[in-house]
Amino acid sequence: MNIASRFQTQPEEGPLVQITVDGTPVTAAANMTLAAALLAHSGEASRQTMSGAGRTAFCMMGVCFDCLVDVDGTPNTQACMTIVRDGMVVKRQSGLRGLGGGRGDV
Ligand code: FES
Repeated sequence: MNIASRFQTQPEEGPLVQITVDGTPVTAAANMTLAAALLAHSGEASRQTMSGAGRTAFCMMGVCFDCLVDVDGTPNTQACMTIVRDGMVVKRQSGLRGLGGGRGDV
């Protein structure tokens, strides 16, 4: 089962926003969390660990930190705690991120 199939498709009505995920335009409901939008879009991993293992949103309530993505140049953003907004630029994270946001500078 594809994880995206666990989520409802976006409503036909209501305000929509346009975000960009790794350069690909994605339409989402305006009140949706970024994690839900990513899962509804593809269900693909939103980040990779140092070993290359894929991770994506799990708890959807800010506890597991498996949903970390780069939002508008800010790495380690919890997608499940972030509401989408028009023009948001999202990048999937790969590998270790440091406390300062750089790669591997823990
Ligand atoms: S899904 Fe668990 S912290 Fe975001």
